Amino acid sequence: MGLFNKIIVLLMVVLFVASWEAPCAISDTNNKEGEGFILPTTKTHVIVYNFLDESLNFTIHCKSKDDDLGPHVIGPYGHYSWEFKVNVWGTTLFFCSVSWRDGCGVYDLYKARRDEGRCNECEWHVTKDSLDGYNDFHWSDIYYNWDKPPCVIKM
Ligand SMILES: *[C@@H]1O[C@H](CO)[C@@H](O)[C@H](O)[C@H]1NC(C)=O
Repeated sequence: MGLFNKIIVLLMVVLFVASWEAPCAISDTNNKEGEGFILPTTKTHVIVYNFLDESLNFTIHCKSKDDDLGPHVIGPYGHYSWEFKVNVWGTTLFFCSVSWRDGCGVYDLYKARRDEGRCNECEWHVTKDSLDGYNDFHWSDIYYNWDKPPCVIKM
């Protein structure tokens, strides 16, 4: 092999190794910045805001195939967030049960097939009317309706 070909092969190996990371979620509580190795890869951040007013809390519990982020109670104007890297197959999916006094349901809050290219800072606003998803242009382009309690949460 010529030197040029050796460099190409080496580059391909480096790129392959760098992209080969198991899907993993890191919640805010044990945030490890810049843990990507060799090449930095972009992390996706999902943030869910409480805009319910009336001092209402909501409870959120998110999971992916590999991670269970556990239940969290979010107070008025607080937020919940986590970050992760989309897996190399583009199949990353986080679904969350969200419930508050008058509404509940299980929603896909991050789905790579839908959201890759839509947002890296994926915002959701929990409001009385709906659960609204915002893209990186800060446009709300997804609206989920609430089911009325009592909710049967299967997840
Ligand atoms: C909201 O959550 C806090 C902390 O868990 C709790 O003390 C408070 O009573 C809750 N408020 C309502 C309206 O449920």
